[in-house]
Amino acid sequence: MSHEEFPTGNPAVVTCGLPYATGDLHVGHLRGYVGADAFNRALGKLGQQSIYACGTDMHGTPVAVQALQRGVDPESLALKRHKQYQETFPRFDVDFDSYGHTHDATNTALTTEIVHTLEDEGYVYEDEVLVAWDPAADQALPDRFVEGTCPYCGARARGDECDEGCGRHLEPGEVKEPHSVITGNPAEYRERAHKFFRVSELQEYLGEFIDRLEGTANARNQPREWIEGELRDWCITRDLDWGIDYPGADDLVLYVWVDAPIEYVAATKQYTERVGSGAYDWETVWKEAGEIVHVIGRDIIQHHTVFWPAMLHAAGYEEPRAVVAHGFMSLDGEAFSTSRDRAVWAREYLDEGFHPDLLRYYLVTVGGLQDDIDFSWERFRERVNGELVGTVGNFLYRSLLFAHRNYGGTPESDLSPAVRERIEESIEAFRAAVNDYSVREAGEAAVRLASFGNEYIQRHEPWKLVDEDPAEAERVIRDCVQLARAVAVLLEPVTPAAAERAWAHLGAAGSVHDAELDTALDAPSSEFGEPEELFATIDEERVAALNEKLAERVAAAEADAEADDGGESEGDDTGKDAGSEGGEDEDAERVEGERPNVELDPLADERVSFERFGEFDLRVGRIERAEPIEGADDLLRLEVDIGIETRQIVAGIRQLHETAELPGTRVVVVANLEPAELFGVESDGMVLAAGAEADLLTTHGDAPPGTTVR
Ligand code: MSP
Ligand code: ZN
Repeated sequence: MSHEEFPTGNPAVVTCGLPYATGDLHVGHLRGYVGADAFNRALGKLGQQSIYACGTDMHGTPVAVQALQRGVDPESLALKRHKQYQETFPRFDVDFDSYGHTHDATNTALTTEIVHTLEDEGYVYEDEVLVAWDPAADQALPDRFVEGTCPYCGARARGDECDEGCGRHLEPGEVKEPHSVITGNPAEYRERAHKFFRVSELQEYLGEFIDRLEGTANARNQPREWIEGELRDWCITRDLDWGIDYPGADDLVLYVWVDAPIEYVAATKQYTERVGSGAYDWETVWKEAGEIVHVIGRDIIQHHTVFWPAMLHAAGYEEPRAVVAHGFMSLDGEAFSTSRDRAVWAREYLDEGFHPDLLRYYLVTVGGLQDDIDFSWERFRERVNGELVGTVGNFLYRSLLFAHRNYGGTPESDLSPAVRERIEESIEAFRAAVNDYSVREAGEAAVRLASFGNEYIQRHEPWKLVDEDPAEAERVIRDCVQLARAVAVLLEPVTPAAAERAWAHLGAAGSVHDAELDTALDAPSSEFGEPEELFATIDEERVAALNEKLAERVAAAEADAEADDGGESEGDDTGKDAGSEGGEDEDAERVEGERPNVELDPLADERVSFERFGEFDLRVGRIERAEPIEGADDLLRLEVDIGIETRQIVAGIRQLHETAELPGTRVVVVANLEPAELFGVESDGMVLAAGAEADLLTTHGDAPPGTTVR
């Protein structure tokens, strides 16, 4: 591991939390799998050698409980799910380089070997421990076979995790008022001999590890409390048949959280077995110098930032460079529920006939990575119609069509230096976003470039220039084709299929998947055919129909939950769907108080973190000068004093304010907005205004220019 910027000279592996073999995949799961896939592709764009490795989580009580309830054996149930996942992921272009499962020979052997090492290094001891027991069924009740109350926060909890409350991992014997999931009877506690891993000895190491760890802030902050508090040893065996046998103890299997993350290593090893160690060596990655990036949901941070690095360190393996923990996706403000059919299913999405790229784009860009977000068809439609159709698709189609019709491809002309610079800027923004583990920002860099392209073509009106100034028309279109090529390269991680189609429209050689960032500036092909539209608009009726379907489903699930209240939980949920602090459920209808006679935009679906808000540098400014811009009816060129300097800002307020009266007005300025060019005038910042009337925001006291607005 190094903390040099990507690309480094070390091979990388990107992983994503293994799906439990407990049910169908839903769009919530896909948030992680698509995000990690896009990140892996984005690393490749930077020239970083990287693979994407994952597998199915076959073991543990999530699968065992479900198999018992269905009267089938856990292995065949898990294998069936595994096959299903293997078929589903590629349909979303989630392109694993290696996808195994935790029950295969590679993982079993590697897990056994690592446990032996932990024993040899003195990290394992045996101790008597109280485990929950069902007297009627005369069997132990590990993990999800027992439910009760969390000793830390009092919420309803499962045997090994407080999934509806504080999110803590619970050790055997910890859950209060335990009762059996098999019979519903109160459980007893019986003393049994189990194996323990001395995590407590690694406290100092873990503290340092957390300080070094890259990725999202929640993955560093959340575990600090555990690491700096009383770090307890970890019981790593269970009284269960289903799992990987504890070496030398026939009646015990390993706790699922021991062998599950080892699948990250096993899947990497299987990749090496396929391609040869000359091409990619799993041992270099995991034992010497690899860039290990784990993408997970926020519910499994503790496992990935405490237990897993402790195991890796004790067994002499490399530690993860980054843990990227995303927020949950909820439905109407509540958790997805696998067992209650309260979800938007991955296959259902495909059955609706939507292209996977649309969902990919939505999932990656809909909210801050760490935020919990609500799934909404309306938002989905907004993203697709606004950015994919309106900005990206529109720019690529109009510029390539014009190029094809007039020149049969790219006209012969030199790329304008300003456009080259703009593309270089986007490449830099993309590179920085990847180093920041933000696929969202990487995607946004591409969309912003397309947006620039639209403005560019609009401003230069090549359709007029073809007759008036043919050489200038050629130059403009040459620039546009280059911009189109760059957009295709930059957008590939998020919408790989659309990018590949655009690549074909451009007559470009090879595949856009292999095109690194710098190729965005390679000369585009002088010949290409007629392009096609990349994305189709989704209309309102479609969304209404989808919402209706979804509302019916949510209502049925709610009725189901009510009927269930106080009774037995079905226990076949993955439980990872919990999200009490899930997405927001506000909508426009809930706005109370006086309603003005205008149509209000619905409230945003998702919240942004305070941290993200803090990224905006808002300042009090004072307008010093205001003057019209030739040819632009709405725009004014303002000079705004923001204390530290005076900015030139273009604002669309001309028809709504008396130009002569503006000087002296206090305004609020977004000071760190990227500069943009509007009608040939650079705008370095933005003044805030409300509504169609562009009612300027001002101050009520006399805060001097430059004062920060919070
Ligand atoms: N099997 C474990 C992970 C083992 S990793 C060594 C597990 N499985 S899971 O099926 O419950 O979840 C798989 C991944 O999907 C996890 O990263 C989890 O956080 C994520 N998500 C599950 N439900 C989710 C949402 N509703 N929203 C977003 N991500 C969700 O945990
Ligand atoms: Zn709790």
